[in-house]
This record gives sequence, C-alpha cells and structure tokens, in this order.
Amino acid sequence: MLNSRNIRKDFPIFNRLVNGDKRLVYLDSAASSQKPQTVLDIMNDVYEKHYANIHRGIHALAEESTELYEVARKKVSDFVHIPDPTQMIFTRNTTESINLVAYAWGRKFLKTGDHILLTRMEHHSNLVPWYMLAKEKDVKIDFTEIDEQGLLDLEDFQKQLNHKPKLVAFAHMSNVLGVINPVKKMTEMAHRIGAIVLIDGAQSVPHLPVDIQDIGADFYAFSAHKMCGPTGVGILYGNKKLLNEMDPFLGGGDMIRKVTYDGFQPNELPYKFEAGTPAIAEAIGFGAAIDYLSGIGMKEIHSHECQITAYAYDALKETAGLTILGPSAEKRGGVISFTLKDIHPHDVAQVLDSEGIAVRAGHHCAMPLHQKLDIPASTRASFYLYNDEADIDALVMGINKVKKVFG
Ligand code: ALA
Repeated sequence: MLNSRNIRKDFPIFNRLVNGDKRLVYLDSAASSQKPQTVLDIMNDVYEKHYANIHRGIHALAEESTELYEVARKKVSDFVHIPDPTQMIFTRNTTESINLVAYAWGRKFLKTGDHILLTRMEHHSNLVPWYMLAKEKDVKIDFTEIDEQGLLDLEDFQKQLNHKPKLVAFAHMSNVLGVINPVKKMTEMAHRIGAIVLIDGAQSVPHLPVDIQDIGADFYAFSAHKMCGPTGVGILYGNKKLLNEMDPFLGGGDMIRKVTYDGFQPNELPYKFEAGTPAIAEAIGFGAAIDYLSGIGMKEIHSHECQITAYAYDALKETAGLTILGPSAEKRGGVISFTLKDIHPHDVAQVLDSEGIAVRAGHHCAMPLHQKLDIPASTRASFYLYNDEADIDALVMGINKVKKVFG
C-alpha cells in the first residue's frame, strides 16, 4: 500500500483542522480531489513569472506561456496514450467535452429517428447533453440495464445494439456504484455494428491506468479537478477523422484561420475546438498534476484504492442497518455509496462532518439511477491516494455516532 500519511504531507489542505479541532478525513474525491503543493506552486509561478495570453503574442511572456501550455497538452495526452496531441482538446471539464460532441458531432450527423444508446448508471453529464440533442433532432435514447448487483448487463447491451444506435456513450466507472465497466469489450461490440463510441472517463482516469488507444473509443472525456489538478480544465480526446469532419463548437478567437466580413475558416486541430482565451495557468497546473500522479504511479494508486475499498467494504458490510449500493469490493473502484436505515443522507453527512469527515450526500448528479434503485438519495464515501485505513476507521466510528444520534 502507499504511505498515505506521507502523501498527505504533499497536500497543504491536510494541515488544517475542521470544525474546531477535528482532523480532516476527506472522503469526497469523486466530487473533486484535493491539490498537492506542486500544482498550486506551478500555477502561482505562471502568474508570477510567465503569464501572458497564448498563441497570439510575439513577445517573451507570450512565447513562454504558450510553450508551457503546449507542454501540458503533451503531458496529458501521453498520460492516457493519445497517439497525437492534436487529437486532445482542452475544454472546461468532462461535461463540456460531452456537450461538445453532442453539439458538434450530434447536430451534424444525427437525423430524426436515429438511436443513441446510454446506460442506466450514467450521471447527468452523460445524460442531459443527449436529452437536449434528442429533443432538437427527434432522436431516440435507449438504455442498457444494470443487473441486481449493479453491474452493466452485457447481454442487454448486445440486445440494445440491435437497434443500431449511431452513438453509444457510457461511463468507464460509475460515480455511484463504483462499477468499472469492460470498456474495451463494449467499444468492440459497439464498433461491430458501426456505432461511434464516447466514454466518460471522469471517475476512471484519476484512479487507474487508462490507455485510450488500446480501448479504441472514438471520444473519451475527463476533468483535471478530480485528479489533483485545478478546476476549469478538462479534455476531450477525439478520433482525428471525426474531429476533422465536425464543425466547430464555440466560435471566437483562436479557433479561426481567417475571418472576413463574409465568414470564417476554422483553424486546424486542436485549436478548431478551443475558442477564446482558455484556462492557461490551470492547464499548466493539470500538467503538474499528471507529473505528480505519474511520480507515484497509476498502478500503485489503483492497487492502493482497491485495498482501501476492500477494507471499507468489509467494515461497512458489518454495520447493522447499512446497505451498500452496487457490487462486491473486487468489482468496483474507490467509491462506496450507501443508505443507513431510513436516516436521510443529509443527516448522515452532517453528523459525519461534525467529526471532520467529508462525504457526499444526495443523488451525486445521478438522479435517474437513484430513481431506478428506488431511493431518494444516498451517502457516498470516495477514496484516493491520500486516504488510509485510519480514515475508514473514522468513517465507521462516525456512522456509529449517526446511529446513536438518530436512535
Ligand atoms: N459527478 C460528480 C460527483 O460524482 C460531481 O460528485
């Protein structure tokens, strides 16, 4: 296992106490992770020493910031094995990446009566953009079912593929059930019927080694803020042929080659999809987050989280009145959502917070999945490289306190 106590020393936030004198037990990384000092330092450094707008200026600072920004692009694309960095578009986050595809690919290539295939476990980012598109283009949305364990039903996936969807979109890892989907196999199945595949990697890339080239998806999206990087920056990987065929998403500076009073010519990839001044220091901070995670090793991080998850799963399973959503520990990543008798998750989270334990309570941006599970909400503990068994012990003690408070 990783030495999480030492790792926490890299993250200044763990120097503070919460609610008076309580040690911070941060179990909400699936919503957003904490940031190491190196990421904070590099962003500060950019603003103090190198800052200017990128791709525009003919002066020293503009050249330095452009260079740093493009180096960050290369770091992020190498991290997930994107063959060519021009296929990697900086966006604001996973949500914007998926909206980009729905808008720029969906609007151009889908027509009335076409099908899109999603799954029952998607969060709002991989549902709502498709709902908006479906309404506009009169497209039909189908869903792959989940089984009683919460795993994706691959037989049903194959059945749904018989509707010949033009696009299949699914999460690599569920942010509620923790399930890690067999994305390579699903991509091959979808490609066999000629569908375009988009994978939402918001919960996977921060936690396991991901090789986009090996998976073979046409689009893959993730965000920096869930992987030790800053907010306001994420990426979309795209198949080069598709990206070239698509029209731009947003119009403005940087995404053009030429503008006249009659119109414009779009820029080459990836700039064609990067309109306006981007989050420059944040993209460079994203590069520093990649350096930080690579320095520890994604295999090591994944294996650490598997052990923490197994430890937490065993401890929570023994807690009377607690029901874990989703499959057994070995079939999931570092996310455990649960209900506790009929105590509202907001009450659970509030009592945990009084002990310094941060969890997420509610629908976790996945309302339809909670409706399907027939529960209004759940409490979610999510783990990262800085969590250890002491954090899980604190969670279990906190849950016992919740039970005492609510009788
Ligand atoms: N989808 C994010 C989460 O799971 C925001 O918390």
